[in-house]
Amino acid sequence: MERYLVQGGLPLSGTVQIGGAKNSILPVLAAALLNDSSEEIRLRKVPALGDVRAMISILTCLGAQVGREGEDLLLQTAAVDCDQVPDLLMREMRSSIFLMGPLLGRLGRVRISYPGGCAIGLRPINLHLEGLQKLGAVIEEKNGSIEARGRLRGSKITLAYPSVGATENLMMASVCARGSTVIANAACEPEITDLQNFLNTLGARISGAGGPEITIRGVRGLHGGSYRVFPDRIVAGTFLLAAVITGGCITVEGIVPEHLTALSGLLEQAGAAVEIGAAAITVSAKRPLRALQRVRTGPYPGFPTDLQPQLLAALTLARGSSTVIEHVFKGRFHHVPELRRMGAKIDLSGHRAIIRGVDRLSGAEVKATDLRAGAALTLAALAAEGPSRITGISHIERGYERLPETLSLLGARILRERGAPEEVLSR
Ligand code: EPZ
Repeated sequence: MERYLVQGGLPLSGTVQIGGAKNSILPVLAAALLNDSSEEIRLRKVPALGDVRAMISILTCLGAQVGREGEDLLLQTAAVDCDQVPDLLMREMRSSIFLMGPLLGRLGRVRISYPGGCAIGLRPINLHLEGLQKLGAVIEEKNGSIEARGRLRGSKITLAYPSVGATENLMMASVCARGSTVIANAACEPEITDLQNFLNTLGARISGAGGPEITIRGVRGLHGGSYRVFPDRIVAGTFLLAAVITGGCITVEGIVPEHLTALSGLLEQAGAAVEIGAAAITVSAKRPLRALQRVRTGPYPGFPTDLQPQLLAALTLARGSSTVIEHVFKGRFHHVPELRRMGAKIDLSGHRAIIRGVDRLSGAEVKATDLRAGAALTLAALAAEGPSRITGISHIERGYERLPETLSLLGARILRERGAPEEVLSR
C-alpha cells in the first residue's frame, strides 16, 4: 500500500501551473456520449487523475473509443450502444451517476447501480431521479439497481436544492429531448458553465448556466468538436492554502481568479497578503493567520465545501478561535480526528467545528478517508514539526495530479513510499 512520507516545517514558495478541473472533466466525459455522429471529440489538456481513468473505463465499457494524444483525450462515440454500467465501475466513484442523463437521452434506457457513498455523506440521488421523471423517464429501483426508460420530452424542473450533479445530469438528459427544458434553482458553479459551453460546442442549445435558471432547447443530435475545461479552482485553492499553512509564498497560474473570490476574501480577512492578477493569484502569510469567526460553506459563489478541510487545517495554526460550519455535506469532518493526532485542538458539534489555534502541529501517522480530507492532512503534515506518514493516498490521487512532485518543486520534503513502511516514524 502506498503512502506519503512528509518531513514538515519548511515554508513553501514558488509557482504552480493549474490543470483542468476534475469536476468539469467528469461530467464533460459523460456528456460526450450524447454525440451519436462519427465525428471525433478532442478534450485538450486533460489531467491524469484516478477519477478520469475510472470514467474512461466506463465509457469504454459502453462502446466508446478513448485514446490519449499527449495531454489530450480523443473520443469516438458513434458505436455507443450499451445501456448498462457495470456495478464494479459504478461503485468506484460518485460521478458514475452522470451517465444516467446522457444514456437516457441517447438510447432511451439506462441501467445503473446506486453510486458509492463516501466518507463525506450519504450522497442521495433523489433530485436526479425526480428530475428525470419530470422529463418523462419511467424509473424502477430494485435490489440496489436503477432502471430508467423513456423518450424524454422537455419540462420545467425546479430543484429543491441547487445540486451540482443533478443540474448537470438533467442538462445532459434534456439536450436531445423533444421541446425545451428549464431548470430552476440550478447550481451556479463554474463547472456548470463549463458543461454548457462544451455541449454547445457540440451543437446543443443551452443558455443561462452560471445563473439559477438554465434553458435547454432540444436538438436532434450532436456532432464532434474540441474543448478545454476551466482550470481546477479547488486544486488552485489547495496550493494557496499550502502557502498559508507553511508560512510561505505561492503563485497559482493559469486560473480564473473570480472562481476563487470566496477563498481570497477569507484569506485577506485572516491577514494573508493576497495579490490577484489576470490569470493568477499569489498568497503569502509570513505570520500566523488571524482566526476567522465564522466560515460557512455553501453553493457557489459561497465558500466551497471542497476547500473546507484544507482551510480548517490552516486554521489549526491561526491565532485565536475559528468557527467553520459545513452546510453542504453533514458528515464532512473525517479529517478532524486525524488532525487531532497532530496536536490540533478542534471541537465538533453537528455541522460546526470550533478550531482553537495552537503554536505548532507535530508529525504523526494519519489516514486519508476521502479526497479533500487527504489534501488537508497533506497540508497539515507540511506544516508540522517532524515526520508524518499519510496512508489512503489513492483518495488524494483521484483529484490531485503528481502532488508530491509538485510540492517538492515548492520546497517540500515529501515522497511516495511503497511496500512495507521502513520503520515507525521516529520523532
Ligand atoms: C459535486 O458533488 C462535486 N463532485 C463535489 O466535489 C462537490 O463537493 C459538490 O458538487 C458540491 O459542490 C463532482 O462534481 C464530481 P451536490 P455532487 O449534488 O454533485 C444533496 C470533490 O471533492 N443532494 O451539489 O454530489 C447532497 O447530499 C467532490 O471534488 C441531495 O440531497 O454534490 C449534498 O448535501 C466531493 N439529493 C448537497 O445536495 C440529490 O439528489 C450537495 O450535493 C443530490 C444532492
